[in-house]
Amino acid sequence: MKGIILAGGNGTRLRPLSLVGSKQLAPVYDKPMIYYPLSLLMLAGISDILVIARPTELPLFRRLLGDGGRLGISIGYAAQDEPRGIADAFRIGTDHIAGEDSALILGDNLFHGANLPSLLRRSARRLNGCVLFGHQVADPQRFGVAEVDEAGRLVAIEEKPECPRSSLAIPGLYFFDGEVVDIAKGLAPSARGELEITDVLRAYLKAGRADLMWLGRGVTWLDTGTAESLLEAGLFVRDVQRRQGIRIGCVEEVAMHMGFIDADACYRLGEEMANSSYGRYLMDCARISGRLPASARQPGGWP
Ligand code: TTP
Repeated sequence: MKGIILAGGNGTRLRPLSLVGSKQLAPVYDKPMIYYPLSLLMLAGISDILVIARPTELPLFRRLLGDGGRLGISIGYAAQDEPRGIADAFRIGTDHIAGEDSALILGDNLFHGANLPSLLRRSARRLNGCVLFGHQVADPQRFGVAEVDEAGRLVAIEEKPECPRSSLAIPGLYFFDGEVVDIAKGLAPSARGELEITDVLRAYLKAGRADLMWLGRGVTWLDTGTAESLLEAGLFVRDVQRRQGIRIGCVEEVAMHMGFIDADACYRLGEEMANSSYGRYLMDCARISGRLPASARQPGGWP
């Protein structure tokens, strides 16, 4: 399965913070925002990923993540010169997708939850058309909302409804089969001038090929599009990390966990940043894995 991170957009709700830089490079506590969606795709087992960003910012993403080789994965880049809508990702990413299944995640979406990786892998395996996710929220009016029947099956998708028929918001993470490219190419821009992901989802729903997976209580979903939500996300990450002594969105640790790199490589990546607690955490992760060469094994605790 191919992965796409959509990290363009104008970030108007975050201005002036986003005036001369991508919000997806802004810090969410101790790491750039894009680490969170990137680590999620990796946890789903995806190792061939396209990052789509504004042309002026692509070089910065490339500087941060390179070709992905250090993480044992492949990362490519493509420009979106105007924010033409989320479904534009499939037009830009046509060659990358190359007829295969793909996962699209928005660069400003952050997920955390114990059973999430297995849920994602299960969703990828049972993909027959598209999989979207439903997450219970207190204010569904702000989101795309999934309407479900009594059996919990998806029956309709509403965009920012005034009177929502459920409290299940649809987060910015979707799995599609290869047909998504043709569906996206057949879309006309909406009244607000964008190629809407909702229209893609509705096309699958109409064909009876849209599957809704519920993200249960154990999953936290945060979007980071406003100053308030960005700060909240940073505080959430800090609190979980402090309390549990683990890191969220730590791409190097995930790469080792998924077997994309070995413990030795993870240790070396940590060593390069040994002056930060993040770097020392990576070194500890590698040590604790028990798979380091004896020379690098020292007693070490969690930061
Ligand atoms: P949005 O929140 O819809 O747009 P935005 O990020 O530009 O922010 P604002 O509403 O404040 O102007 O985008 C959600 C995510 O999708 C975000 O990570 C940016 C990305 N995106 C693109 O990369 N290209 C696009 O054409 C659109 C619409 C969004």
